[in-house]
Amino acid sequence: MRVAVVGLGYVGLVTAACLAEWDHLVVGVDADPKRLGALREGRMPFHEPRMPELLADGVRSGRLTFTDDLPAAAADADVVVVAVGTHDGNGGWQTDTVRACLAQLVPAMAGGSTLVIRSTLPPDFIRQLPTLISAHAAAAERTLIPVMLNPEFTREGRAVRDFQTPDRVVLGIVSDPDGRGEAMVRRLYDRIEAPMVVMGAIDAAITKLGANLFLATKISFANELAEICDAFGADVSTVVDGMSYDARIGGSFLKAGIGFGGSCLPNQVTMTIRTAGQAGVSTPLLSAVDEVNHRRRIQVVERAAALLDGTVRGRRVALLGLTFKPDTDDLRDAPALTIAGTFIEGGASVVAYDPMPTARERSVVIVPGLEVVDNALDAVEGADIAVLVTEWPEFLDLEWNSVGALMRRRIVIDGRNVLPGEELASSGFLYSSFGRGTFLGDGAGSWIPSAGFAMSPMLQVGEG
Ligand code: UDX
Repeated sequence: MRVAVVGLGYVGLVTAACLAEWDHLVVGVDADPKRLGALREGRMPFHEPRMPELLADGVRSGRLTFTDDLPAAAADADVVVVAVGTHDGNGGWQTDTVRACLAQLVPAMAGGSTLVIRSTLPPDFIRQLPTLISAHAAAAERTLIPVMLNPEFTREGRAVRDFQTPDRVVLGIVSDPDGRGEAMVRRLYDRIEAPMVVMGAIDAAITKLGANLFLATKISFANELAEICDAFGADVSTVVDGMSYDARIGGSFLKAGIGFGGSCLPNQVTMTIRTAGQAGVSTPLLSAVDEVNHRRRIQVVERAAALLDGTVRGRRVALLGLTFKPDTDDLRDAPALTIAGTFIEGGASVVAYDPMPTARERSVVIVPGLEVVDNALDAVEGADIAVLVTEWPEFLDLEWNSVGALMRRRIVIDGRNVLPGEELASSGFLYSSFGRGTFLGDGAGSWIPSAGFAMSPMLQVGEG
């Protein structure tokens, strides 16, 4: 099939490259000439496993081309996929981009083609879609085309796998009187074995939102549970593992730590709180999810202050990891940036390392005063405390005795509950986690619940 994909961000570019790999003839459309130039040369604008190979194959075979001419690309396509952004960058929605895009492409699309919208859209905008699209079609004296929503559920770092082998494909019908649109989408995705769940457009949009809100809720739940574990001396990882054997609960998205970031979960929580409020619906559960998540970032700094004899002022902090999760170079709503900024405001100097060079370069522009270095050992050298923010595999393999020898004080906060706490403590580290307690590193294996550490006289040790 001939496919035009409009908007070459994470969602659009992954969609375009995966469809080209399945032998569709794909043209990617974007307004950014720099991005188009790089893509034509097979260079990825962001880090995503497997995408460099898919892009190179697509470009080499001629199945994947790029243009900024939206009407021409739309006119030649059997299916037009819209994947432009809908965040306003401030925790809310913006629909200007998608509106501008529809105004250009609907009049250009051929009679037998289908429009598929993959961007996440606010529910009230979806209600306006049929009228908006018929107005554009009527103004251009075009027949009405089928319009479908096809929300994506791809995770950064595993976007290709999530696209090619999803758990389900959700298809929301905006307008498809004779079923032609659904048939086109089934052909487009004929390599996918997962069930296709067909429903109304608003149901599809809220299915997408609901999935992300539920995942965010699970994480904040795990983080609140971690605080309870800390207060009573339990280990949240063991507790969650024990819970996960209950098929009604499962174990995924229950990893406690410093909370969720990224382009989707935080935004979708705040956008839903706002839009539900405007519709007269109160969302106390989602407000709590957001509060628990943001509180965590501040708690890291408060915890560090308590471990550093009451203040972070004048202390040197090593941050391990900047991206919002491993296997991406994405810094959008990355907890590390808030944490670094809060440390700096408190008078600490912060030296960060992340395996992604682009993340290091961009983070110093976003967080004034942040210093970045090219490897983990340089970050910890002379540090009073190290904070693991992103669980990149290379941090799990660090040789902690060598790390300790470089640090001014052997203190670690494990923001992702992934380091071997008891092992670190036996190397003389004061190891503090969220939900697994604080090991004092006093040689006797002493352990206290993290929630109580600030009060413990045992912590009045150290060089000060
Ligand atoms: C998310 C959704 O998973 C995906 O379906 C949607 O299409 C886009 O948003 P993504 O933002 O790429 O994907 O990352 P995800 O893997 O969901 O992780 C989000 C955040 O939650 C990360 O900061 C991660 O560190 C955190 N997280 C995840 C936890 O803190 N604990 C967990 O158990 C899982």
